[in-house]
Amino acid sequence: MTETRTVHTSRLTGDELLAIRSLLDDAFEGDFTDDDWDHTVGGMHALVQEGGELVAHGALVQRRMLHGGRALRTGYVEGVAVRPGLWRRGHGSAVMEALEQVLRRGAYELGALGAADEAVPLYTGRGWQRWRGPSSVLAPTGIARTPDEDGCLFVLPLRAALDLDGELTCDWRPGDVW
Ligand SMILES: CC(C)(COP(=O)(O)OP(=O)(O)OC[C@H]1O[C@@H](n2cnc3c(N)ncnc32)[C@H](O)[C@@H]1OP(=O)(O)O)[C@@H](O)C(=O)NCCC(=O)NCCS
Repeated sequence: MTETRTVHTSRLTGDELLAIRSLLDDAFEGDFTDDDWDHTVGGMHALVQEGGELVAHGALVQRRMLHGGRALRTGYVEGVAVRPGLWRRGHGSAVMEALEQVLRRGAYELGALGAADEAVPLYTGRGWQRWRGPSSVLAPTGIARTPDEDGCLFVLPLRAALDLDGELTCDWRPGDVW
């Protein structure tokens, strides 16, 4: 039986956190760093389990995005992964469905994520829109452009007025800022 649940990091056991980290390490083939893990915790997790085993995960953490003179309360998607060998069976969609429910229930003004190339069809197929304008980060030294991320950022418009050709600036954090 497949079961999807949504739970805050604070409600997860040590074993559950280890299972999530192990799934992310496997799905990203060793490219998932400790900073990536740091970005994945502290918010809501969507967990898909099959026969008691974790088969898919995604997280939603709060960040601030500067856009159009406003600091938008943003639900940022992190750590979306499905156990290798179980792809294209709808598990990634189940994760996104659960996270989008949290986004749409009014907790945030905007949904945002940085997409791996192979995951773009999953997100666009669900109504996420590619950000066309320049991206940047509010670094300790001021706003700095992040040109490598241009074209890889996607948003789920909720309540905020957006100009997809305008600038989108994320808050600062260690590791990959987007
Ligand atoms: C990306 C990933 C999460 C997708 O999970 P998944 O369980 O295969 O996704 P789904 O089965 O729900 O796919 C839903 C739809 O998304 C699209 N899609 C998903 N993966 C796709 C791919 N590789 N190529 C083309 N379309 C794809 C398809 O439209 C698919 O529907 P369909 O199978 O009926 O055609 C999974 O491949 C994965 O864990 N990859 C490694 C980690 C990663 O890249 N995570 C994303 C970080 S941004």
